[in-house]
Amino acid sequence: MGIQIAPSILTADFARLADEAAAVSNADWLHVDVMDNHFVPNLTLGLPIVESLAKAASQPLDCHLMIEDPDRWAPGYVEAGASSVTFHAEACRAPIRTAREIRAKGARAALALKPATPIEPYEDILAEFDMILIMTVEPGFGGQKFLDVCVPKIRRTRDLIAKHGLDLWIEIDGGISTETIERCAEAGADVFVAGSAVYNADDPNTMVEKLRTLAADVTTH
Ligand code: DX5
Ligand code: ZN
Repeated sequence: MGIQIAPSILTADFARLADEAAAVSNADWLHVDVMDNHFVPNLTLGLPIVESLAKAASQPLDCHLMIEDPDRWAPGYVEAGASSVTFHAEACRAPIRTAREIRAKGARAALALKPATPIEPYEDILAEFDMILIMTVEPGFGGQKFLDVCVPKIRRTRDLIAKHGLDLWIEIDGGISTETIERCAEAGADVFVAGSAVYNADDPNTMVEKLRTLAADVTTH
């Protein structure tokens, strides 16, 4: 599949979401951060806005659920129009069942790990997922500083995927910019979320291409 760029609309203007989606027409995905003020100390948007955005945006929606009880809510995001639904390992009670429900409804299923959550306990259930999202900041807010301590986990995840002969994508989220994207691509990431780097740039589409080129140039896998 190669390198994919997923701008996060968390830093976009929430009153102009359709225009903000159009401003990153080169992007592979639109990353939508759903926060419930419980799993993280911030509140963003939910099902009705995802439903409207799925109709208004040309890119597929990559919904990142930073919510409690994703087992209950995640499948509904597929019905709302998301093409990929990511839920957190720390919040779910039945990851296999939830991933299977997401896939049965026709979307890609992904498991997200906060910076201090290891990948190793999930080795045996990797095949239940289409993607692993490795957070490189503590979830909750855009514009935070990239946590270098998360890079070895990207490498270990890539090794586990190869060991089992699987075809999972590794998505990285938090503090991704022209400064930090290369070290993540080198470690084995292939889907890159970028919020502030893209939406605070003079031209968001130009930044999408810049990030794509930087990552592609150091990718060997
Ligand atoms: C943070 C969100 C991210 C956020 C990234 O909890 O999951 O998707 O928007 O923003 P930047 O790229 O500014 O760190
Ligand atoms: Zn996110």
